Amino acid sequence: MIVGGWLGAGQKPHPENRSHAPPGLNRRLWRPAKCSTNIDTIGHLFGPNPGRKGNVVANKRKIIVHIATSADGYIARPDGDLEWLTKRPAPKGFYGIAKFMNSIDAKLLGRKTYDLSVQMGAAFGTQTPHYVFSRRPAPASVPAGVAFVSEAIGAFAKRLRTGKGKDIWMMGGGEIIASFLDEGPIDDFIISVIPAFIGEGIPLIAHRHRHVPLRLQSVRRFPDGVVQVHYQVR
Ligand SMILES: NC(=O)c1ccc[n+]([C@@H]2O[C@H](COP(=O)([O-])OP(=O)(O)OC[C@H]3O[C@@H](n4cnc5c(N)ncnc54)[C@H](OP(=O)(O)O)[C@@H]3O)[C@@H](O)[C@H]2O)c1
Repeated sequence: MIVGGWLGAGQKPHPENRSHAPPGLNRRLWRPAKCSTNIDTIGHLFGPNPGRKGNVVANKRKIIVHIATSADGYIARPDGDLEWLTKRPAPKGFYGIAKFMNSIDAKLLGRKTYDLSVQMGAAFGTQTPHYVFSRRPAPASVPAGVAFVSEAIGAFAKRLRTGKGKDIWMMGGGEIIASFLDEGPIDDFIISVIPAFIGEGIPLIAHRHRHVPLRLQSVRRFPDGVVQVHYQVR
C-alpha cells in the first residue's frame, strides 16, 4: 500500500509476545504487543552501525528522516491532503523503501501524522515500535506496538540512540522533524522529491530561523521523475 510506503505504518504482526515497555517509556502507555524482536535485544543480531565522522560518536543508531516532498518542499497540503502523493502509480521497488525498512527497527512520528495514519486506516505492525510524540495526554487506547512519548526529545533520543538496535526512522511530519532537528539528534535526511508543485502546504521542516549545513551522500533519479537525495547533517 502506498501509504505504508510513504508513511510506513503497514506491517504484519508477529506471533511472539512483547512483555515489557521499551526503555524510557511510560509503561502505562505501552501496550504489550506481539513482536518477533525486542528493541533491547535486537542489537546483537545485526551488530553496530557504521561509525560516523565528525562530532558524532561512532556506533550510535542513526535517526534518519525518510520522506517524500513536493518539488516546492511540502509534505502535505495545508489540510493534510496527500492525494498528490498517494495517487501516483507505485513503481516497482518503491524507491528503495524495502532496503531502508530492513535497516531500521523503530519509527518516530508526530502526533498529527499518527492521527492521519489512523484515519487512513493504516495498520501499525507490532514488529517495529512506533513512538508517537505529543505534549498532550495519550489517547485512552492505542494500537499494540504504538507508544506515546511526552518526554523531552533530547533525553529520549539519547537513550534510544545509544541502545542496541538498527537505525531509527523519523517519519515526520514537519513539526516533529523540526523539534528533533533543533534538538540535534537527526543524522540523515533521505528526501524523495515528487515532480510536482502543490503551491502551499505543510513544510518538510516547520519554519524557524536555522542554518543546518548538509553533506550530500547520494542522488538517485527514478524513471518517473522522482529524485531521491540523501543528505547527512554535518
Ligand atoms: N509526505 C510524506 O512522506 C509525509 C510523511 C509524514 C507525514 N506527512 C504529513 O504531514 C502532516 C503532519 O505534519 P505536521 O508537521 O502538521 O505534524 P506532525 O509533525 O506529524 O505532528 C505535530 C505534533 O507532534 C507533537 N510534537 C511536536 N513537537 C513536539 C515536541 N518537541 N515534543 C512532544 N511532541 C511534539 C505535537 O503533538 P500534540 O499537539 O499532541 O502535542 C504536535 O502537534 C500530515 O498531513 C501527514 O500526512 C507526510
